[in-house]
Amino acid sequence: DAAGAVRRDLLGRELLITAGGTREDLDPVRFLANHSSGKQGWALAHAALVRGARVRLAAANVDLETPPGAQRLDVGSAAELAELVAEHRGQVDALVMAAAVADFTAADRADSKIKKDDGDEDSVPAIALRRTQDILRHSVLDRAERGGARPAIVGFAAETGGEGGSALDLARAKARRKGADLLVFNDITGGVFGAADNSVRVLDREGEEVSHTSGSKTAVAHAVLDELLPHLPEVP
Ligand code: CTP
Ligand code: CA
Repeated sequence: DAAGAVRRDLLGRELLITAGGTREDLDPVRFLANHSSGKQGWALAHAALVRGARVRLAAANVDLETPPGAQRLDVGSAAELAELVAEHRGQVDALVMAAAVADFTAADRADSKIKKDDGDEDSVPAIALRRTQDILRHSVLDRAERGGARPAIVGFAAETGGEGGSALDLARAKARRKGADLLVFNDITGGVFGAADNSVRVLDREGEEVSHTSGSKTAVAHAVLDELLPHLPEVP
């Protein structure tokens, strides 16, 4: 915290944190990706470790050094991340979905490189896409089906305002739709990808704001973990 005191309030807890951005192959040399750097997920992992948690860190294409003490699990695509989360979510106290997951992937990945037609300057290939699994939503449903309170689930949403409403309105609606315990909302109207600093609001499942933090990704990470604490399942 601000005073530099270390709170060991996650001792005995285990978190699965997803970080980075997935990549969807179109052919053997090309992919669809996004600008997520993994820094916020990394900051969450560091903060959780400092507070005494064990951390499984699912890293989607992250070019950062593994936080000492974290169990790093590398993945590439949304499907790989979905499989990994499904395998691990029943074994942890909290699932923190900081990764930017592709919403669409190639309907059929080409086995050979997609070629352009040199004879026709106007021709472009049509690349068919299909939806990926919504891992967060799936995890909320899976938990409900098991009738459990485990794991606590945290989602993230980077929004820009638009015709559907302000960024905050969209985030509130998303919080209610997703059913995660918390949704961490980042207003990216100004652009934050790869930046060191961040401004976030933590919303509950009704879309109500429970905290608002501006500052380093480390400060944001601690604020998110503060709000996560009361949602952690009871210790048996
Ligand atoms: N997420 C996920 N699986 C997906 C897409 C997103 O688990 N296939 C998670 C993200 O990790 C994040 C949360 O869902 O924690 C919200 O992601 P976001 O992209 O903001 O939400 P979407 O429902 O995909 O809506 P949008 O149309 O705004 O992209
Ligand atoms: Ca999305």
